Amino acid sequence: MSPTQTLASSKDESSFDDPRFELVDRALKRNHYHQDALIEVLYAAQESFGYLNKDLLTYIAQKLKLSLSWVYGVAGFYHYFSLEAQGEHSCVVCTGTACYVKRVEEIVTKLENEFGIKFGETTPDGKLNLQTVRCPGNCGNAPIVILDGEVWGRETPESTIERVRALVANSGGKTDE
Ligand code: FES
Repeated sequence: MSPTQTLASSKDESSFDDPRFELVDRALKRNHYHQDALIEVLYAAQESFGYLNKDLLTYIAQKLKLSLSWVYGVAGFYHYFSLEAQGEHSCVVCTGTACYVKRVEEIVTKLENEFGIKFGETTPDGKLNLQTVRCPGNCGNAPIVILDGEVWGRETPESTIERVRALVANSGGKTDE
């Protein structure tokens, strides 16, 4: 099966097609794009992506009509926010209602057992970070797993494990350089 959607990881506008922006957009709309909502929007972004990259901060700065340097400053001030990816590869599993009904918990358990870490953590070799997200808006293909920005739908524990194993096998992991 091919990914239901291919996500851009480059720093151009196309990366804003990433469905994980859905949560960020909801936080923006809920707060009527008010600048005072910056922290809440950053929380939503961190929850959705696992960290705050430049694309994301640029997007938020534009939507709230704030300077990028200000948004960077706020994100950098709070320890909760991370400005760098936590692992070489990211596996984000949707735990929203539709995915829950389609037994995403089995995928979560299988991933934790296979890689020996909990969601929110990174393997000691730095190769894989596991995160959850609540409904990036692809419920029709539940359960959803996002691997390095690629969205995979109608996943099973077996198909996800196979994909993640392949990702990790093709990575270099931490070096001592
Ligand atoms: S609940 Fe998982 S994509 Fe909507």
